[in-house]
Amino acid sequence: MIKEHFFIEDIEIINFVNLDRDDILEVFRLRNHPEISKWMFHKNFSLQEHFNFIETLKKDKTKFFYLLKQEGIILGVVSLVGVDFLDKKSYAGIYKNPIFSKVGDKILAILEIIAFERMQLKTIILEVFSHNYHAISCYERNGYIKCKQNSKEILIYEKHKL
Ligand SMILES: CC(C)(COP(=O)(O)OP(=O)(O)OC[C@H]1O[C@@H](n2cnc3c(N)ncnc32)[C@H](O)[C@@H]1OP(=O)(O)O)[C@@H](O)C(=O)NCCC(=O)NCCS
Repeated sequence: MIKEHFFIEDIEIINFVNLDRDDILEVFRLRNHPEISKWMFHKNFSLQEHFNFIETLKKDKTKFFYLLKQEGIILGVVSLVGVDFLDKKSYAGIYKNPIFSKVGDKILAILEIIAFERMQLKTIILEVFSHNYHAISCYERNGYIKCKQNSKEILIYEKHKL
């Protein structure tokens, strides 16, 4: 049900398990773009590891990654990891295509439709480096609340379904 290919308004949403080879390569390029990878906890993985990772998603019921496209152009990626369907919560992640500016709100809105409406989750949790001001202001602008802090470097934001 969740691993599929669908549209939300004019945004095409493709689960990574359904990506074709060209899109897998595009995602690899995007994820390793210096403006993106510097904000990620996991960096410097090879193309082979990327292909292997996407393969593992086919069997994993706790990780869902989606490529977002608008008019055929990659807008960004949203991910849900550690999805807990019993407690109805999940960690999440977003990144945009660096050619765009101010698309964070749109990407978060798609994440919320997937998490809250399609997956029927109640809580989204976002972990972010404390110096990642663009992401933090995007989360705060969209109603995410800072909660417990694991370390000085990593902040945790949550949003609950209304
Ligand atoms: C997180 C992310 C999706 C947020 O995107 P965004 O909200 O569109 O913001 P941008 O990065 O395009 O920022 C452009 C500017 O527009 C501002 N902006 C964006 N949307 C805005 C809005 N709706 N209203 C007012 N200002 C806005 C931003 O605050 C930023 O302002 P600044 O340069 O003066 O600080 C994006 O920054 C990103 O992909 N970052 C790299 C990956 C990342 O950090 N992911 C999160 C890991 S936890």
